[in-house]
Amino acid sequence: CCGISHAYVIFGATGNLAANKLLPALYQLHCMGHMAEDVEILGCGRTPFTQETWQIEVRKQFVESGIAEDASLDSFIQRLDYLSGSLKEAAFYQSLGDWIGNDGECANNVVFYLSVSPELYVTVTEGLAAAQLLEESHGWRRMVIEKPFGHDLESARELQHSLSDQLKEEQIYRIDHYVGKEAVQNLLVLRFANLILEPLWNRYHIDHIQITHAETVGVDGRASYYDNSGGAVRDMIQSHLLQVMALLAMEPPVSMEAEALRNEKVKVLQSIRPVNLEQLATHAIRGQYAAGEVKGVAVPGYLQEEGVAAGSHTESYAAMKLYIDNWRWKDVPFYLRTGKRLQERRSMVAVRFKQPPMQLFQGSGIYQPHPNWLLIGIQPEDAVRMEISAKVPGLEMHTRQIVMDASVSTPGERKAEAYEELLLDVIKGDRSLFLRYDEVKAAWTVVDPVMQRWAEDEQLPLQYPAGGWGPKAAEKIFGDSDRGWRHSLSCNGKGSE
Ligand code: BG6
Repeated sequence: CCGISHAYVIFGATGNLAANKLLPALYQLHCMGHMAEDVEILGCGRTPFTQETWQIEVRKQFVESGIAEDASLDSFIQRLDYLSGSLKEAAFYQSLGDWIGNDGECANNVVFYLSVSPELYVTVTEGLAAAQLLEESHGWRRMVIEKPFGHDLESARELQHSLSDQLKEEQIYRIDHYVGKEAVQNLLVLRFANLILEPLWNRYHIDHIQITHAETVGVDGRASYYDNSGGAVRDMIQSHLLQVMALLAMEPPVSMEAEALRNEKVKVLQSIRPVNLEQLATHAIRGQYAAGEVKGVAVPGYLQEEGVAAGSHTESYAAMKLYIDNWRWKDVPFYLRTGKRLQERRSMVAVRFKQPPMQLFQGSGIYQPHPNWLLIGIQPEDAVRMEISAKVPGLEMHTRQIVMDASVSTPGERKAEAYEELLLDVIKGDRSLFLRYDEVKAAWTVVDPVMQRWAEDEQLPLQYPAGGWGPKAAEKIFGDSDRGWRHSLSCNGKGSE
């Protein structure tokens, strides 16, 4: 036999990401008929599983976490195989080569998924290259690289340099799972499949845009990664939130092809004005959660979490005010924020439009005209809402805010998980939802100076009680304007009854 025909090879197969996201996503693809019969999944890791014991382990995880019932798992579990060994040793890659089987009679197409600690990205790539497993003479070889791609601009450059010694750009899939979310992809549809927004989508009509990713979880067993290589800016803003900003702000692409889309996104990222370091306290704010209560449950502060270094300055909350210096967006602030241990789990975009040029209804007592908002829920709700003013029934010309509400999915409709879409795209060779190096580089260029300035600061990040909306000082980012954070998709009451 000539070995495998298609395979996902997962490095770090016993880690959290594989257990919580990758294997469940592959299982869904299998169930939905998106996985050809000959696709195999090879888990690689140091834990000395055999094929049989790993299959038992995955089965147990799936059943315990309610992903599937035992009886329905057989055909998926049969796809799983396991190779244990040290990713630092040549012998491991020899065994992997034997498993893949390069005898040249038929195609061996392989997705290598790096779900390992970022320090190992180059080690694994070089190991694969030395064993000639990246050569595409017997089918394609694609490498999926998890974020963070580097921990700052310099290390991203070095990583890119080392990878490009061994891989062609077309073989590299830099994943940002956020871009694979249904609601994030829907931003493109909302903007470019409708005409009503486009004439308003610019500095003449938009007052500002907020992008929020709020979480109730803390560092959740990932403290060693988060405390050393994470922090809210590196973990969320540099990647996920800047991607959302790019999708919101980009020009219409000439097509939905990968290069066309990425060309437009990178232009936005490259046009972001350097953050004002002279007035950092009103342009970038960092916080760290203190003990508190989230949804009625008492939780420890960040510094008390197991695995967090004593006196750590790592931020679990960050907010940034960014401007895009181009024709469409000049001087429109984009406020990005993210935090752990906040009051709600919610990701959303809030677009506030400018007020009409004249306030004809000003004299109407408590019913003040309210600016129009477009609210786009990313999770948990994937709703699109538009807040507009309307007349209150009655004899007076009083106005109030009403909501036009569209739920994106209908009840019972299944939303695809981000990783399902992305793992399928790798097999299809579609890189449109994956990041190009110049995007990653431009994103580091935006956040690097802020992170450097914070690293020099001897003060701890602002402390905020777990279960709230982050440090109070995060409001300072709005200066003396009448703006304020939107925490939810519901009417915020201003100007309404
Ligand atoms: C990951 C971050 O990339 O995204 C995590 O490393 C964060 O810290 C997660 O919790 C959020 O994504 P999602 O899809 O779980 O909301």
